[in-house]
Amino acid sequence: MYLFQRSVDLQNWLETVRGHNRKIGFVPTMGALHDGHLSLIRQSAAENSFTVCSIFVNPTQFNDASDLEKYPRTPGNDIELLVGSGCNALFLPTVEEVYPTDLDTSVSVDLHPLDTVMEGAFRPGHFAGVVQVVYRLLQLVQPDQLYMGQKDYQQLTIIREMIRQLELPVKLVMVPIRREPDGLAMSSRNVRLSPAFRAIAPVIHRILQQVKEQVDEKSVSELEAWAMQQLAEAGLRPEYFEIVDGNTLKAISSLSKTKSAVACMAAWAGDIRLIDNMIL
Ligand code: PAJ
Repeated sequence: MYLFQRSVDLQNWLETVRGHNRKIGFVPTMGALHDGHLSLIRQSAAENSFTVCSIFVNPTQFNDASDLEKYPRTPGNDIELLVGSGCNALFLPTVEEVYPTDLDTSVSVDLHPLDTVMEGAFRPGHFAGVVQVVYRLLQLVQPDQLYMGQKDYQQLTIIREMIRQLELPVKLVMVPIRREPDGLAMSSRNVRLSPAFRAIAPVIHRILQQVKEQVDEKSVSELEAWAMQQLAEAGLRPEYFEIVDGNTLKAISSLSKTKSAVACMAAWAGDIRLIDNMIL
C-alpha cells in the first residue's frame, strides 16, 4: 500500500494506474478505523482495480470544537488495518493540503431541505463542511466509484444530491451498516463510551428492529413517540427519532404511501452522541 501526504504525489500515482477498464474506488474516512470502514474498503477492492482511502479529520464539519479535539486519532493502527484490507493507496493529507489558502474550496449546491432536518437541525453547518471536503477529495482523486456507509444515511443522501446537482462523473455506492455482535452500529466514537453506556447502547438497534416489526400495526407518529420513550427509559438522551422518506428525507404521514422509508435517530449516551438508522 502506498501512503501519500501530498495531493500532487497522490495524483502522480493515480495517473500511472488510471487506464482502460481500470476502475478506481474511493473511500473517504476520518480514521480511527473499525470493521465498518473496512467493509467499505473490501467492497471497493472487490469492485475496482484500485482502491484509495483517505483519512482526514475535517475541521469544517465539526460544529463543536471539543468534539474535533477529542475525535480519536489512531494513524498507526489505521495503516495496519488498511494494509490487510485491499487498500492500494492511503491519502493522509494535512489541513493545508486539503484547504490551501490560495484556493477557493467552497461548493455551491442547494441542499435544502436535506441539510436542515435531523442531523442538520442539531449540527448546524455540519453538512456544508461534509460537502466541501467530499467535493475537494473527489476533485483530487477523480474516482469512478465512491463508497459511503448507510450508517450516515443523511450524509449519503446529501452527497448523492451534490453529485446530481454538479453532474459529477462518479457512481455512489451505499454499503450496509456493520454492527457489533450485540447490534451496536460500529462507530469511531464507541471507544469513548463508558462501560455502563456501552452496555446500554445496543438498545438502539433493538428499538429500530421493533419499529420495523410494528410498521403494519402502528402509525408513524405512534412509532416515533414509542421509540423516543424507549430510548429515554433505557437511560439515553434521544435528540430525534424520525421516520422519513428514504430519498427526500421528508417526514411521512403514512408508511403505505411511500416506497422507501427509513427510521433515523440520534441519542446521547452520556457525553457521546450516537446515530443509527434502519431501512424499513
Ligand atoms: P467517518 O465517520 O470516518 O466514516 C467514513 C465512512 O465510513 C462513511 O461513509 C460512513 O458512513 C462509513 N461507516 C462508518 N461506520 C460504519 C458502519 N458501522 N458500517 C458501515 N459504514 C460505516 O463519515 C465520515 O467519516 C466523514 O463525514 C467523511 C465522509 C469522511 C467526510 O469527512
